[in-house]
Amino acid sequence: MSDIRAASTPDELLAIALPVAREAAATARRMRAEAITDVQTKSTRTDVVTAADRAVERQVIDALRALRPADGVLGEEYGDSSAPEPGAVRWILDPIDGTVNYLYGLPQYAVSLAAEVDGVVRAGVVINAATGDEWTATLGGGAWRGERRLSGSDGTELAQALVGTGFGYDAKRRAHQGAVLAQLITRVRDIRRFGAAALDLCAVAEGTLDAYFEKGLNPWDHAAGGLIAAEAGALVRGLAGAPPGLDMVVAAPPALFGPLHDALVELDASGGA
Ligand code: IPD
Ligand code: CA
Ligand code: CA
Repeated sequence: MSDIRAASTPDELLAIALPVAREAAATARRMRAEAITDVQTKSTRTDVVTAADRAVERQVIDALRALRPADGVLGEEYGDSSAPEPGAVRWILDPIDGTVNYLYGLPQYAVSLAAEVDGVVRAGVVINAATGDEWTATLGGGAWRGERRLSGSDGTELAQALVGTGFGYDAKRRAHQGAVLAQLITRVRDIRRFGAAALDLCAVAEGTLDAYFEKGLNPWDHAAGGLIAAEAGALVRGLAGAPPGLDMVVAAPPALFGPLHDALVELDASGGA
């Protein structure tokens, strides 16, 4: 790499992100093995943050600031959310996606790190900190699990699709999400709720889920995983032409996207709280 402070191609950004994310995943795993400490709640009594979420985020911010002092970092726990300068790199970080799984010892929690320039994600890495599994993507360069290039599910029928989703922490939002699911579940093969949006999007990328949708995701939940799913061939969008965001993220191969999208519109899946 020429000058690490000026690098901005997708490959260069991934080369910066990968070792930082690996160190972060190692910290999350080590802290869990030692003890879970300082469990506090955020938006609701079930929205938890642990000392590990904070320590991992601090570690990633410090590493990125040392390597790339001019970049912005949008992190879930502390990161600066100010708008970046045009052309500047902004790192988008979920230090632990799947904190409830982390708390309970379910092996589905991940570090998610993406590099975005002018609102477009150029590189992303998701590492399941419990298992060490890694998914990466670069804009235009495909999605990968190690050496294996990913191409998603070849399913074409919604009625045969295994669909992942997730729920927010707010009870009112959940009530609406539950009502939508009660209608959708009779139209698909089955539903899965694993508890880490970044890993759900990687599952779409590798075809272990046919499709995924969720209302209420923040950029750190879907920035890296969304690029990984898209580079594996999935459409990653909101409803009715909207970009993926707080109102809705749908990720599905082109043949399944239309039917799932239309069902979600009919069920008003982006409505409610
Ligand atoms: C949560 C997970 C979960 C999703 C929630 C997210 P967190 O992130 O990704 O699967 O359903 O919407 O908030 O709180 O574990 O980082
Ligand atoms: Ca998250
Ligand atoms: Ca998190």
